[in-house]
Amino acid sequence: MSIRHKLQGKLGFGTAPLGNMFRNIPEAEALATVDAAWEQGIRYFDTAPLYGAGLAELRLGEALAKRKREDYVLSTKVGRVILDEIEDPAKREMGEKGGVFEHGRPNKIVNDYSADATLRSIEDSLKRLKTDHLDLVFVHDVAQDFYGDDWLRQFEIARTGAFRTLDRLRDEGVIKGWGLGVNRVEPVEVLLDLNEPKPDVMLLAGRYTLLDHERSLQRLLPAAAQRGVDIVVGGPYSSGILAGGTHFEYQKASPEIIARVERIKAIAQKHGISVKAAALQFALAHPAVASVIPGASRPERITEDHAALNEKIPAAFWQEMREQKLVAAGAPLPGDKA
Ligand SMILES: NC(=O)c1ccc[n+]([C@@H]2O[C@H](COP(=O)([O-])OP(=O)(O)OC[C@H]3O[C@@H](n4cnc5c(N)ncnc54)[C@H](OP(=O)(O)O)[C@@H]3O)[C@@H](O)[C@H]2O)c1
Repeated sequence: MSIRHKLQGKLGFGTAPLGNMFRNIPEAEALATVDAAWEQGIRYFDTAPLYGAGLAELRLGEALAKRKREDYVLSTKVGRVILDEIEDPAKREMGEKGGVFEHGRPNKIVNDYSADATLRSIEDSLKRLKTDHLDLVFVHDVAQDFYGDDWLRQFEIARTGAFRTLDRLRDEGVIKGWGLGVNRVEPVEVLLDLNEPKPDVMLLAGRYTLLDHERSLQRLLPAAAQRGVDIVVGGPYSSGILAGGTHFEYQKASPEIIARVERIKAIAQKHGISVKAAALQFALAHPAVASVIPGASRPERITEDHAALNEKIPAAFWQEMREQKLVAAGAPLPGDKA
């Protein structure tokens, strides 16, 4: 069932950066970033045990403790259990995202998509988040970027473990919805094709952005729309490069990517708009997309995101992006409605 009406606005906040993604963020700055999101009217927050091995959940829980729980929507993830045992974060096996949470907590992270681990993970998240319930739960990263060729075996463990457990919790009213939280289209396509269990929402990260959207347009987004499954777009700035940063897909951007962003920037400048605004509004223009959740670790970014969402982008900008083949011919664009 659609959870769109529960997300309280199109703009949410992603807390991966608060897990000390890329840098050691002072506690006060992390908490002030969540406060800034609240003050800008954001009421949907996404987090995960993986983000800094519990650090992002602890910070989000701390920052939201002064708010009334019924006033905001919370999603977190299952599939990784955080232990008290310590490990060297620099030596973790993180697939293509190597080193990204090196500055996070040093707690051991165990990948486990079974039913028992799902329930344990939820219990642990509730404690870190200082709350008694979650709204949405995503099964995290059961995909090629973390497991390579082993991803289908992990997916099968999740199908009979995490998926069925979350489906039951949704049916019992314990949570409002569940789905996958992934950076790849294939697991979403496979889950959407299953007869059971039935997800409500998918967090698709990095695969519906200005820099990468062709594949999602072919099958995933039409299938999601047809089944009434909402899409939350994660990583709308491709982890930074579309917002003025230097990262693409959580690594330093390649010269090819930088050149492509420069082409977009030149068109944006010509039409007097920001690339950030184009990135956010592009993601939201697809009817299957219910919400977009940029991440940030500095309070000033939130004001910027908010302004980007409300920036007026002339239809001529989108027309030129189409002519220059910087957006796919079949991509719905905000300018189409103008
Ligand atoms: N598998 C999954 O489920 C999955 C995967 C990826 C993402 N997600 C979710 O989606 C959320 C968003 O993705 P994301 O945070 O990874 O990436 P993103 O939203 O594409 O980009 C966030 C990055 O952009 C940077 N940025 C923003 N404005 C900037 C500016 N003016 N100049 C320079 N840099 C700027 C931020 O830097 P600062 O940190 O310096 O503010 C931050 O590091 C995540 O937080 C997470 O909740 C889920």
